[in-house]
Amino acid sequence: MKKAIFVALMFVLSPLAMAKEPAKLAVCAACHGKDGVGTQGKYPNLAGQKKEYLVTTLTAFKEGKRDNAEMKPMAAMLSPADIEELATYFSGIKK
Ligand code: HEC
Repeated sequence: MKKAIFVALMFVLSPLAMAKEPAKLAVCAACHGKDGVGTQGKYPNLAGQKKEYLVTTLTAFKEGKRDNAEMKPMAAMLSPADIEELATYFSGIKK
């Protein structure tokens, strides 16, 4: 009986967990992976990175203080709310 309740809870909770995925995640996933692990050697892992660092460096790319031909256009289209959401998502992934 307890097991049935547990299984039922998993079904109720899993869509909630998925709903936490940031709106712009699909864009980043091509290079950094949906799970925050880079899809090629030149793409850094983001999983488990410090949230504060992710916010700082994404803002730096956006403002042109940190320059990279691939990342700059990505960061340019992010709003501060997107940056916050993505930083929370990637920092929350357990390595
Ligand atoms: C076309 C491939 C590509 C896409 C798409 C992309 N990135 Fe990147 N990203 C890179 C590369 C390459 C670097 C390394 C840049 C450098 O050397 O300065 C990088 C670096 C970063 C860093 C800094 C990592 C570190 O350790 O300093 C963050 C944070 C980041 N990307 C977040 C994102 C987010 C969030 C998105 C989605 C909005 C995204 N990236 C989309 C290629 C990409």
